[in-house]
Amino acid sequence: MSPQEKVQTALFSEALYCKNEQKRPPIWIMRQAGRYMPEYKKIRAQYDFWDMCRIPEIASEVTLLPINLLDVDAAVLFSDILLIVEALGRGVSFEDKIGPVIDRPITCERDIDLLPQIAVEEKLSFITEIIHNLKGTLKVPLIGLCGGPFTVASYLIEGMSSKTLKLTKKWAFQQEASFHKLLDKIADLSIEFINLQIDAGADAVQIFDSWANFLAYPQFLDFSLRYLNKICNGIKDPNFPLILFAKGSSIFAKELATTSAKALSIDWNAHLPDIRQIVGPQVALQGNLDPFVLYGNKETITREAKKLLHDMEGDKGFIFNLGHGVLPDLAFDNVRHLVDLVKSHA
Ligand code: CP3
Repeated sequence: MSPQEKVQTALFSEALYCKNEQKRPPIWIMRQAGRYMPEYKKIRAQYDFWDMCRIPEIASEVTLLPINLLDVDAAVLFSDILLIVEALGRGVSFEDKIGPVIDRPITCERDIDLLPQIAVEEKLSFITEIIHNLKGTLKVPLIGLCGGPFTVASYLIEGMSSKTLKLTKKWAFQQEASFHKLLDKIADLSIEFINLQIDAGADAVQIFDSWANFLAYPQFLDFSLRYLNKICNGIKDPNFPLILFAKGSSIFAKELATTSAKALSIDWNAHLPDIRQIVGPQVALQGNLDPFVLYGNKETITREAKKLLHDMEGDKGFIFNLGHGVLPDLAFDNVRHLVDLVKSHA
């Protein structure tokens, strides 16, 4: 390994533990393997999305695309938070312009009771093989993934992405006990799913509670944070680094920082130095460039990225990322420009 490669390998992990002494922060991008990449689209045209997640050779190849084409500082396992929903026997398909569509959304407590008892490590054993494959090749850390129980529950109930989460929130206010039963079940499965990824060799796991921002403060504590805590406290290695992400999460940063997660991934609304003030120096902060900046030209991207680099200059726990996933119709060259810019920051 060259000295430069050694620095790159260590960068993400050092920032995760708030110990990055280098001039530049590490960078990776949420949804970094996706449709904005012509190479992804070529593979996607040949395979069903779930086959891409399940066939170890394909999942590994897709995970490596952004490493080979962008040289980002961390890889993220090519998979999806709805894999748990699939494993529960509720088929998920991805319809053009609609997004995920869940077969037979759940509508009552009986549906929860009838969800099958599954052994995650058996049902999702292909994940172990994919992580083993990747760890044999990768020179940068591998981030695994898991959905937040509230967000996964919302897909099971709504059956698709929703602008209001009306069915989910109605359920939560009308039948609180059964809603908790569902969240608790998903949290248990999530713990098993993360343990599987820890055993296989993942270096960190990001939990996506993407839709927690739909909740008012008391319900955020009760329906989101409580189960994120259950996961943080339930995984087999209490020191294993977890990263928490929720879109709109900056309003809850103080509460999220009370968990044992090593890092918070912050949406683009927040001014990161303010969040640093709120959470203190011990938790890493990831984010938070508005993904829409990447629709601008290279000068605009440079200007906006430099503002963020300047804001977080010298912060030992800063991981450069977007505030949410990269959008599918973005120009690949613009994403590459961003990565090159951050990597050349001195
Ligand atoms: O970050 C990565 O590159 C790792 C892989 C990853 C995917 N989805 C791949 C994917 C991760 C971490 C996710 C997380 C995910 N999936 C979340 C949480 C993060 C977020 O964006 O809020 C959510 C809510 C989902 C559910 C889901 N899966 C959605 C909303 C979609 C998009 C549907 C669409 O049509 O755009 C998916 C499908 C999906 N997951 C794709 C990818 C690359 C696109 C599938 C395709 O190629 O058709």
